[in-house]
Amino acid sequence: MITLKVKDRDGETHSVEARVGDTLMETLRNFHWGVAAICGGMCSCATCHVYLAPEDMGRFPEPDVDEEDLVDMLEFGRDGASRLSCQLALDTRHDGLAVELAPEE
Ligand code: FES
Repeated sequence: MITLKVKDRDGETHSVEARVGDTLMETLRNFHWGVAAICGGMCSCATCHVYLAPEDMGRFPEPDVDEEDLVDMLEFGRDGASRLSCQLALDTRHDGLAVELAPEE
């Protein structure tokens, strides 16, 4: 298990335990304040949109074309720190990761 710091849409920060091997979305969808993840991780809904801290952007592989295209289609809240949490697999290097939930579409 690793520990993440997650800021919800009300600005409250939660310390969250996450299982290594899960995606970030699989952790965040377990909370009432978390992500909807409507497509279940198929990279087709963007309801798992989060922001990474600038210093954490390099801790994950670059987004693939499908993720980039979906983020580009977001109507608001998209910025350079945007990622789709269903595309972010967690491992032990992500202990202490800081994440902020993006506004709901
Ligand atoms: S859960 Fe749908 S795009 Fe991530």
